[in-house]
Amino acid sequence: MKIPFNSSFVDEKDFKYLNKEIDYKAELKRRFLEEFNISRSYFTTSCSSALDMAAQVIEIKEGDEVILPSFTYVTTAMGFVKRGAKLVFADICEDTFTIDIDDVKRKTTNKTKAIIPVHYAGISADMDILTELCSNENIYLIEDAAQGVDAKYKDRYLGTIGDIGTYSFHSTKNLSSGEGGAFILNNKMLEEKTNVVFEKGTDRHAFINGIVDKYSWKDFGGSYEMSSYLMAILLGQMDKKNIIYKERERVYENYKILLEDFDEIKLTKIPKYASSNYHIFSLLMKNEEKRNETIMKLKEEGVEATFHYQPLHLSTFGKKMGYSKYDLPITEKVVKQILRLPIYPSLENEDIEYIVNNIKKIVGGK
Ligand SMILES: Cc1ncc(COP(=O)(O)O)c(C=O)c1O
Repeated sequence: MKIPFNSSFVDEKDFKYLNKEIDYKAELKRRFLEEFNISRSYFTTSCSSALDMAAQVIEIKEGDEVILPSFTYVTTAMGFVKRGAKLVFADICEDTFTIDIDDVKRKTTNKTKAIIPVHYAGISADMDILTELCSNENIYLIEDAAQGVDAKYKDRYLGTIGDIGTYSFHSTKNLSSGEGGAFILNNKMLEEKTNVVFEKGTDRHAFINGIVDKYSWKDFGGSYEMSSYLMAILLGQMDKKNIIYKERERVYENYKILLEDFDEIKLTKIPKYASSNYHIFSLLMKNEEKRNETIMKLKEEGVEATFHYQPLHLSTFGKKMGYSKYDLPITEKVVKQILRLPIYPSLENEDIEYIVNNIKKIVGGK
C-alpha cells in the first residue's frame, strides 16, 4: 500500500485551453468574479506575493502593528514585517484553529494597522465580529484565504469579506496551477493604489483604459502577475471545481463517520456559520508522543500523514522579536498534537478505511 499525503487533481484536460484562441486572462477573471461573487481580482504568482502586495497597498511602515496568528505559514507575516511592522501574534481557538477574536481584541491598540485572520482549512473566524472591530477602529482587515478558495462564511465566499483577500493555487491546494495566487480587492478606496502596485509601480492600468496617453513610473510596485500560461491551466481547473469539491467532501465525511466516536482523538469542528471547502482533514491526538508515533507507524504501513505549522513566534526569527514559550498556550498545544491525514479527490473509500484502521490499531482505545 502506498498512500501519498497529497495528489493534485491536475491532468491533461487542464491544458485544453492552452491552444485555444481565447483570452485566458479575461475568461479566468470573468469566471472568478461570477462564480465566487468577487468584485475585483488580480492573479498573482502565489498567495505569498498577494500578501506582499497587500502590505505594499496598505502602505505598511515602521511602527505599524499587525495582528495575525502564529499558527500560519511564514508569508502571512513576511510582507508586513519586512516593511517595518511589529508583528503581534494572537492565539487560536482549540476547536477550529482559527484566530481567537478575544485575544485579537485584547491586543488591538491605536497603532494596529491591519488584522490578518488566516482561514485555516477553509474555515474562518467570525468575520462579522472582525469586520465590526476593524471598521470601528479604522483597521484594515486582510483575509489570508490561501486555503479558503470556494469556502464560505455565511453566504459570502472567503476572501471577499475583508478589505483584501488572498488565495493560493499552489499544487497542494484544492484548485491548482502549480504555483499561483490571487489578490482580491473588496475596498474600492484601494483600487488606484493597487493598480499601480500591480503594474510594477506605473500607471499602465490607466493607459490601457485610455485615461492617459502613455504610462510611466508613479510609485513603488512589484512584479506580481501570474503567467498567462498558468492562467490557462487554472481555467481548466475551474471546469473541475465542482467535482473537486464533491470528492473532497466525500473523503472528509468518510473520515468523520469512521473517526467521530473514537475516544483517542478530537476532530476539528466546522462552526455553523461556515461552509467548508474540505481542504484539510486534521485532528488532535492526546499528546505529542502519540502524534509522532502515529505518523511514524503510518509511514511504515505506506501512509503519509503529517503535521504543521512550526509556530512563527517560537521560530528563530520570532524569538528575535521577543516572543517565547508559553506566550500562546493554545497554539503551542495544537502544534504538538495536530495530525493531518491525506485528503484529495482520488483517495478511495478503501484507502480511507485502511488509514483509519491503522490509526486505531496504532493508538488503541475505542
Ligand atoms: C495560510 C497560508 N498563507 C499563505 C501561504 C502561501 O501560499 P503560496 O504557496 O501560494 O505562496 C500558505 C501556503 O500554504 C498558507 O498555508
